Amino acid sequence: MSILIKNGRIITASDDYQADILIKYDKVYMIGKNLQVQAKDIIDASGMVIFPGGIDPHVHLDMPFMGTYSSDSHETGTRAALHGGTTTVIDFVLQTQGKSLRHALESWQGRSYGNCFGDYSFHMAVTDFNKNTKKEIAEMIEQEGITSFKTFMAYKGALMIDDGQMIDLMQEVKSRGGMVTVHATNGDMIDKLIAKHRAEGKLSPLYHYLSQPEVTEAEASARFTDMAHYTGVPAYIVHMTCEGAVNAVREATFRNQKVFGETCIQYLILDASLYEQDPDGAKWVMSPPLREKKDQAALWAAINQGIVQVVATDHCPFNWKQKMMGKGDFSKIPNGHPAIENRMELLWSEGVEKGKISANKYVEVTSTNAAKIFGMYPKKGCIAPGSDADLVIFDPNKKHVISAETHHMNVDYSGYEGWEVKGKCRQVILRGKVAIDEGKVKIKKGYGEFVKRGKVSKVV
Ligand code: URP
Ligand code: ZN
Ligand code: ZN
Repeated sequence: MSILIKNGRIITASDDYQADILIKYDKVYMIGKNLQVQAKDIIDASGMVIFPGGIDPHVHLDMPFMGTYSSDSHETGTRAALHGGTTTVIDFVLQTQGKSLRHALESWQGRSYGNCFGDYSFHMAVTDFNKNTKKEIAEMIEQEGITSFKTFMAYKGALMIDDGQMIDLMQEVKSRGGMVTVHATNGDMIDKLIAKHRAEGKLSPLYHYLSQPEVTEAEASARFTDMAHYTGVPAYIVHMTCEGAVNAVREATFRNQKVFGETCIQYLILDASLYEQDPDGAKWVMSPPLREKKDQAALWAAINQGIVQVVATDHCPFNWKQKMMGKGDFSKIPNGHPAIENRMELLWSEGVEKGKISANKYVEVTSTNAAKIFGMYPKKGCIAPGSDADLVIFDPNKKHVISAETHHMNVDYSGYEGWEVKGKCRQVILRGKVAIDEGKVKIKKGYGEFVKRGKVSKVV
């Protein structure tokens, strides 16, 4: 099995050059100009750019949440991801409070194994850290290749842990070579504001936004960063949305601390004015909420300054009927929005095409940095001999319009309906197989493999 990709412009996190790529079996075998080699299949990539398959380290597939399940299964979610150029996702296993990590892992394994189109891995969300859970941390890292542990500083009563548990978890994870990641918002403050707004009869989607002001995220980001500094654990803040959170991480660099930061495509290009629509604002009810234009500017700057290293999605889709569980009460709207298929094309179009980030930075934040931070590099996240042949052959000039009518995610609306995008994935190759060819799926369910990850990085 071999594929020769000819005449493409290869873009990695560090390089940008014209060359041919020879794939043998599941790996990149050779890269060079005018390769004179035999191959079973030849793809002419003239006029195309080629970059590493996207890695989305923040997705919620088939996840029980707020009285329902996110609507993309591992099957539909990883397939939609491939359509949009994302070849690997990291999904979240959620511990049920009072139960073991193993119990949760088995439940997620049962729903994902044999069902994925694209490659996948897991973060373990620790929602109840106690002496039994503590014993399981080493087991997750050494036996399961699950090396990152997610925490929630919000969603009290379901997912939130307190600062005491956080410190204990951080110390254990550090001693075992893992990383702690966080949803950093002040859960108590948010719950107080939700209760206040509900008591005042302020129930529209706008009050979801007004219940989570910037300070709730800035405060928690600083507190988490301080705890990570105290314990010395490698740390990563998911879905950063605002200037205050970025500044909290920037502050930490003054004392020579490194905390990794992630934002999501929606926080770069959508803003809180969408919440003025009632009930349609429910489409964008997510936590943290969309913010202001000044926050978008802060996030683009933070990407270019290296304070934010990853652009993910926090893909957590719910159909409109599910969203309408919160009709007349914003606090009951399932939090999350769909983007797993849109991230790569939107970020190219809004970021590279509009001159906000370079093409190399694009590869860093969509693939390479996530591979490095989460222990998958250089198997994933680069185009180099010996690496998995996960590649996107991308037409930078092809325009298209996003719509729920044509997307492949299992959700009946798009948060980007009618959005014009310049640039489209023409072929997506996963471990040496063409998975998507001009919109057609060429692999079968079950082709996607679980990726056991290595110990995490403290530097990128
Ligand atoms: O609104 C969101 N983000 N839903 C998914 C759960 C989370 O907080 O990441
Ligand atoms: Zn979150
Ligand atoms: Zn999330």
